[in-house]
Amino acid sequence: MQTTVRPSRRAVARFGQPPAPPDDRRQRVLDAALKRTGFRQDALIEVLHTAQNAFGYLTPELLWYVAAKLRLPPSRVYGVATFYNFFSLKPPGEHTVILCEGTVCYMHGAQRIGEALEVAFGAAPGETSRDGRVSVAVARCFGSCALAPVLVIDGQVAGNSSPAAAVARVREVLA
Ligand code: FES
Repeated sequence: MQTTVRPSRRAVARFGQPPAPPDDRRQRVLDAALKRTGFRQDALIEVLHTAQNAFGYLTPELLWYVAAKLRLPPSRVYGVATFYNFFSLKPPGEHTVILCEGTVCYMHGAQRIGEALEVAFGAAPGETSRDGRVSVAVARCFGSCALAPVLVIDGQVAGNSSPAAAVARVREVLA
């Protein structure tokens, strides 16, 4: 069933017109999540998670679609998507580095690792490098505090890291 989206003039000025979402497998995954959660408004975060996992990131079209399906104002959906740092409104880079900024990792120099990654690859935490090869994200504790500071590069945990080791490891992955 296709929902008709009738955005207000103010919403259109802010977000642009909502194009129709593509009809593909990813769309079916999202629709299944909407159905499973009964189109409940309090399932917004879970639905956005599913949308991001399926599509890689949250496009404006997806935000419109979810807002329409859950009968929520687009500004509310946009607000939630931008509030939590685990949601991304930009395409991810070819490789992903997730830096733990939990307390233990922070005390063991996570911040310096973030700075070194930014200098080396031009991507501060939360950003993607200009060439689209590396995205740096942050997390709050992977539950591996004994290995602090911890980062995860393309799903591989790299513990007891240092700024130089982290940069070298990412260069290896990019090579
Ligand atoms: S604080 Fe970083 S893994 Fe726990």
